[in-house]
Amino acid sequence: MIETNITKMFGIKHPIFSAPMGPFFTRELALAVSEAGGLGVLSNVNIAGTNPTKEHLESMKFMVEHTDKPFGLNILTSRNNRGVKEMVRKVPKLIMSDPKIKEQCIYILTSAGSSRFLPSSKYFQELRKVSEIKHFHVAPAVWLAQKCVDSKVDGMVITGTEGGGHQSFEKVTTLVLLQQINKVFPDVPKIACGGFATGEGLAAALSLGAGAIAMGSRFIASKQSEFHEKYKALVPPGSPQDTGLHWGAFGPIRLFRNKYALEHPAPGSKEEMVEREKNLTMDDMLKELDAYERVYKGDTENGAVLLGQSIGIIDSIEDVNDIIEMVIKQAEVAIKNNYSMIK
Ligand SMILES: Cc1cc2nc3c(=O)[nH]c(=O)nc-3n(C[C@H](O)[C@H](O)[C@H](O)COP(=O)(O)O)c2cc1C
Repeated sequence: MIETNITKMFGIKHPIFSAPMGPFFTRELALAVSEAGGLGVLSNVNIAGTNPTKEHLESMKFMVEHTDKPFGLNILTSRNNRGVKEMVRKVPKLIMSDPKIKEQCIYILTSAGSSRFLPSSKYFQELRKVSEIKHFHVAPAVWLAQKCVDSKVDGMVITGTEGGGHQSFEKVTTLVLLQQINKVFPDVPKIACGGFATGEGLAAALSLGAGAIAMGSRFIASKQSEFHEKYKALVPPGSPQDTGLHWGAFGPIRLFRNKYALEHPAPGSKEEMVEREKNLTMDDMLKELDAYERVYKGDTENGAVLLGQSIGIIDSIEDVNDIIEMVIKQAEVAIKNNYSMIK
């Protein structure tokens, strides 16, 4: 077993989290990860026709009906995110109003927007007083990590540019970012994210000051993930070069380079992106949303296929239990081998 500040903070067996992967459902995946001793994280689901707050309630009910283990959820705090104001207001209230959910939902990860959105919610402040809930925010740069610390987060998810899906304009690798942030904020609990899929990766993250890793692409290629079989099938043969940074609804995203990706070149700057968004018509917006729905149903050519460079180190689709067991075993071997080098 590997015990860290994060496994102790959350009372979990293994320092492994599933990364949130909205707008898609990750209920079965979160359940499998929590059951296997990691911490499963529910995604902010907002594909067309869904109400994100209602989906969070349904997802949390699903979790407490199927496991007694702890879990977490993600809220995208981008102002572009449909329903964000309702979510930061209502989700903490919903957690508080169900004793089982209050006991098991112990982690809220905010991302793709301000780290202040959730702490400013009156119900979240109340929830903090009556539960063990912890608030982490995604930090893709040192100056954004400072904002997290100013918002009094309990910890940060340090996500580098090699990660799949949501990205920032900063484009710093996880390797450098972890060292940068660890140097400035050595005592803030950290989860490393972006590029992790193996035990050697976990061992490296722990050496760089993180207390756990979060994996997205690795868990997409699992038997329990709700992603379409065609989506999963892209992972084992994929290489890092098959992915690139492109244009997404909440900022830059790392996509598998298919027809859709090639039609969505990455914006050069935030200003360029805001300008481009201003010119979007309602029809354009609906088409964008449709691209997520399409891929969820299996159109991996014309839909947005979010994946990270880590697909280059994933060779097969596995059971979540086996993935977690293998990562822990490999990490233990790597840590022992490293220790044996000390003479
Ligand atoms: C399909 C997909 C959807 C994602 N959606 C979200 C999201 O809704 N919120 C978020 O904070 N990050 C999102 N991400 C980013 C992941 O949480 C995480 O940072 C990334 O998967 C890490 O890189 P990896 O894929 O190499 O593990 C998404 C990633 C993927 C692959």
